Order: sequence, then structure tokens, then C-alpha cells
Amino acid sequence: MASAKKRVLFVCLGNICRSPTAEGVFNKLVQDANLMHAFEIDSCGTGSWHTGELAHPETRKTALARGVELTHRARQLKYTDFEEFDVLLAMDKKNMNDMLALITEPEHREKVILFRDFDAIGIKDQEMPDPYFTGEFDLVFELCERAGRGLLTHLLKRP
Ligand code: 4NP
Repeated sequence: MASAKKRVLFVCLGNICRSPTAEGVFNKLVQDANLMHAFEIDSCGTGSWHTGELAHPETRKTALARGVELTHRARQLKYTDFEEFDVLLAMDKKNMNDMLALITEPEHREKVILFRDFDAIGIKDQEMPDPYFTGEFDLVFELCERAGRGLLTHLLKRP
């Protein structure tokens, strides 16, 4: 792996359920692999309603029960994120399309990828369900673990 840090940004709508879970789970996978020096990890939302808030109480409870403490404060996606991060993981196709619609530099488009495409046992083109509406907090945590493992393997292979 090259010496430069890999900069990874998880993106959902509100930044209080799916992307903070993905961020926390990925952080734990990286910590467990003793690779914290090699990564910069963050999350954000395409919307601004929850700016400054901790993750949803049920999201935090679900993660904490599995050993992941979520301390992230919500923030909105900003244009410089496309410049500063190497990969931006969209939780669903709406997040993905909202991001692509903001991009003006063609080379930034390939940085935007649907997160669940990294789930080794999943099928491509699948969206992360939104537990804010579905209540599927446990399922989202498990899907984030599966996709996060695949993402870590992928990033470690890249120069
Ligand atoms: P998230 O879920 O995008 O996974 O954080 C949502 C949280 C809040 C809202 C929508 C989705 N909201 O409309 O406030």
C-alpha cells in the first residue's frame, strides 16, 4: 500500500443513521487491522437538517451493543469533499445521483460508488435500507460490516 492515506467518506441523506454507522464500522475494521495510520474516515449527509447532531439514538444504541461507539456530529456534504476524499460511498441511488449532480470535474465522478457494491456476498446495485424509515437498525449494521470488509480489502489492493 502506498504511504499516502486513503480518504474515505460515507454519504447518506441525514447523516444520522446509515453513514455514521458505516463510518463507525469501517473505523473499527481499520483499527482492528492496526491500519489507522493509513486511513482518514468521515461521513456526511446530502441534507442539512441534522447538522451538528449526534447519530439517531437507536443507531447509536445498535452500534454500541456491537462494540462501536458513534461520536460523529452530522454535517452536510460540501463541494471540496469531492477534491479531498479518494472515495465517496453512497448509501442509496438517490444519494449517488444527488452527488453526481453536484460534480463539475469529470475525474470526480469515478470516486462516487454505491457502498453495497463492496459486499462480497451481495449482488451489485443494492441500496442500504434507511432505518430512519424502516426501523431496520440491526440489518443496516450487518450490511455495513459486510460492505465495509469488502471495501477495506479493495482499498488495500489499490496502489
Ligand atoms: P440517514 O436517515 O440518511 O440514514 O441518516 C435519515 C435520517 C433523517 C432523515 C432522513 C433520512 N430526515 O428526513 O430527517
